[in-house]
Amino acid sequence: MGNIPPSANRRSRTRRGLAAVSATAMGAGMIALASPASAAAGCEVDYQVNSWGSGFTANVTVTNLGDPINGWTLEWDFPGNQQVTSMWSASYTQSGASVTAEDASYNAAINTGGSISFGFNANGSGDAPDSFTLNGVVCDGETGEEPEEPEEPEEPEEPEEPGNPGNPGERVDNPYVGADVYVNPVWSEKAAAEPGGDAVADQPTGVWLDRIGAIEGNDSPTTGNMGLRDHLDEALEQQSGDTPMVVQLVIYNLPGRDCAALASNGELGPDEIDRYKNEYIDPIAEILSDPAYADLRIVTTVEIDSLPNLVTNVGNRPTATPQCNEMLANGNYVNGVGYALATLGDIPNVYNYVDAGHHGWIGWPDNFGASADIFYQAANASGATPDDVHGFIANTANYSALKEDHFSISDSVNGQMARQSRWIDWNNYVDELSFAQALRQELISTGFDPGIGMLIDTSRNGWGGPDRPTGPGPRTDINAFIDGGRYDRRIHLGNWCNQAGAGLGERPTAAPEPGIDAYVWMKPPGESDGASEYIPNPEGKGFDRMCDPTYQGNARNNYNPSGALPDAPISGHWFSAQFQQLLANAYPPVE
Ligand code: BGC
Repeated sequence: MGNIPPSANRRSRTRRGLAAVSATAMGAGMIALASPASAAAGCEVDYQVNSWGSGFTANVTVTNLGDPINGWTLEWDFPGNQQVTSMWSASYTQSGASVTAEDASYNAAINTGGSISFGFNANGSGDAPDSFTLNGVVCDGETGEEPEEPEEPEEPEEPEEPGNPGNPGERVDNPYVGADVYVNPVWSEKAAAEPGGDAVADQPTGVWLDRIGAIEGNDSPTTGNMGLRDHLDEALEQQSGDTPMVVQLVIYNLPGRDCAALASNGELGPDEIDRYKNEYIDPIAEILSDPAYADLRIVTTVEIDSLPNLVTNVGNRPTATPQCNEMLANGNYVNGVGYALATLGDIPNVYNYVDAGHHGWIGWPDNFGASADIFYQAANASGATPDDVHGFIANTANYSALKEDHFSISDSVNGQMARQSRWIDWNNYVDELSFAQALRQELISTGFDPGIGMLIDTSRNGWGGPDRPTGPGPRTDINAFIDGGRYDRRIHLGNWCNQAGAGLGERPTAAPEPGIDAYVWMKPPGESDGASEYIPNPEGKGFDRMCDPTYQGNARNNYNPSGALPDAPISGHWFSAQFQQLLANAYPPVE
């Protein structure tokens, strides 16, 4: 029943908390130590340098150990003739060896225990400064209230034993390890009713709280008449003995939801942030904090498809939409996500995973780092801190292949690089696993805890069946090579609606790869992504032509055919033909 077997290949993760990150891949690193100046304030600076002799790039993470601050200045003296040439996520002045960096307004606030990061390029050697001051206080890793202890080197955390329940009420590093995962009976019944569906009907899938009404149960196709409490009660029923039970919830009801598409437009208007907080997040939090559920490990995946839209579909980009520009301008995606993280993150047995798009969305150099920045901004908005974030989820409800075995980003054919191919189109990643692992590193260097883990939604990225390539494409030119070898057989990487040819992907698995907490089926396979034509409905859902098989595309899929299956119902509703296709094309195949 939904047991996710732990894998031998489990990563060990360093302890959460304020212990400083040690210098590793980046090159020289140091922790500034000096005596504290005041009891009310304290800070710690981690200075990581990547040096090439005549110059270097520095990444600076400042952790506030004192009272919350709003507005900061970090000062240091270089040990030699180093000269800053550019700085990001902060502004600077330099006079002789003395540098003053000031916050970029969006990262001005640092809560107690919170961190911000900024970076700069400089000329000269990468030798680190001896000390830093934050708003005039020396950063020595102490608050001044306790005698200084020598820094203990960090020890890797003991790997958890499979079946180790951890202490109830205390978050574990990877909630999936040694745990069972809740099987949504509403989905399970539909899957089991399809021919051959029995084989996967006991897999765990996400429970989508896609409307205020879903909290109490509203006869929606996704959750039937089961409200959130009913699911949690049922999860307790499914729990056997001491084995912990994970429940996977999708928090999905932002104001102005799905600003670059129409198929999953939501019930709340762009400005209805107060309703989001009071009528959606608060009631969910109230239920989740019921002591009856304190032993469940509640995984919340927070707001699918929202924040990346604020990077890729705004401004003067050809992909921009007025709705995404509005959500960027009014701040309600960032503030809504921040509020959800802060409120749900206060509940000790909730594990927040923020949605992080997928490689075919934010895998390009101009949106990868920018997305990490906006996730960090949201994790510091509306009372949230990065500690409210347990990890991130990639590929939710998308179709990007997990691992492309027949080519890599560094391949070339006749002097043409893989990145030049039509399919890859200058992306830096070719699949979700490499993307998720790289994004995790990027998020950590942006300021998230080194303990964060990634989830990958593998519900529909299997791409098996008779058309699955068994080897690389011909080395005649780069396009033939990539197109002949790729598992992902979409017409274009930007296609997302009910994709023809897709199959179920890896079955849900705990800790399958380093940095990955689990492969999950967050999107319940068989539930539509959107209707192929306009169908009136009371759910606020529009008609997006990306779900119409006759559509020839838009800027977001570079004007390619949609690749969608015909005759689809509105998003979230059961789509039998799609389920049967997913089963037939499953990879690994369904036995
Ligand atoms: C829909 C939701 C649905 C979810 C899971 C989304 O595309 O908008 O209403 O619950 O898919 O199927």
